[in-house]
Amino acid sequence: MMTTQPLLKITGVTKTFGGLVALDKVDMHVHQGEIVGLIGPNGAGKTTLFNVIAGSFLPEQGEICFQGQNVTHLKAHNVCKLGIARTFQVPKPFKNLTLLENMMVGTCFGAGLGKSKDSLNKIGEILRFAGLEDKISSKADTLNLVERKKLEVSKALSTSPRLVLFDEVMAGLNPSETVEMITFIGKLRDRGLTILLIEHLMKVIMTLSDRVVVLDYGRKICEGNPQEVANNAQVIEAYLGKSNA
Ligand SMILES: Nc1ncnc2c1ncn2[C@@H]1O[C@H](COP(=O)(O)OP(=O)(O)OP(=O)(O)O)[C@@H](O)[C@H]1O
Ligand SMILES: [Mg+2]
Repeated sequence: MMTTQPLLKITGVTKTFGGLVALDKVDMHVHQGEIVGLIGPNGAGKTTLFNVIAGSFLPEQGEICFQGQNVTHLKAHNVCKLGIARTFQVPKPFKNLTLLENMMVGTCFGAGLGKSKDSLNKIGEILRFAGLEDKISSKADTLNLVERKKLEVSKALSTSPRLVLFDEVMAGLNPSETVEMITFIGKLRDRGLTILLIEHLMKVIMTLSDRVVVLDYGRKICEGNPQEVANNAQVIEAYLGKSNA
């Protein structure tokens, strides 16, 4: 269906920690405008793959290409400048800075607008979009969990990304907050953002993903549309095997 070059192309990526193979020759891609779900049991290598894409870890083997450019050896801040933003599984705001100041770090160091007046407008727009506009002058350590998760997403957006990597942005939210976050991410897709999404909640993956990639022990074991993946025997075994252990 889509024949254009993928926005993100990962080829043969291997990352080890001592004797542990966290990623084992992983191939995957993300096309412009897609939401791709990345799932797998605990310890499968999902966050490690984000760290490799975002320039936090250098893989021993393989290649990451973004917009046709080899970014494998780039440092995190340069990857961000090219238009890839990520969130952290555990939110990492600058606690003693206000939301505005947290966001300004992103506009200054990302792909976007620097310190211009436009950057203030943009920050206001993102925080409004996230429902955090009332908190713009509050310090980040006054936020509750759902607000911290929304700030984490907003900080990623402040860098003007073309691709965002969301690492379990729904974890710990109650059902109504989860629905709120699903709507938020759906709206980001409608605005043209490309998203790679790690999530344990299958409801979230089934609702948002155009395509799903499954990792288990660092290997890609399945890839397809959400329905195909949910019915795949190897995927079911990977999950049930773990929960029965
Ligand atoms: N910095 C590190 N040093 C050593 N081992 C690591 C490091 N980061 C991850 N690992 C190991 O690599 C494997 C993959 O971890 P990773 O965090 O990528 O899994 P995950 O799929 O994100 O799991 P979860 O769903 O629990 O977040 C695990 O065995 C983990 O213990
Ligand atoms: Mg993880």
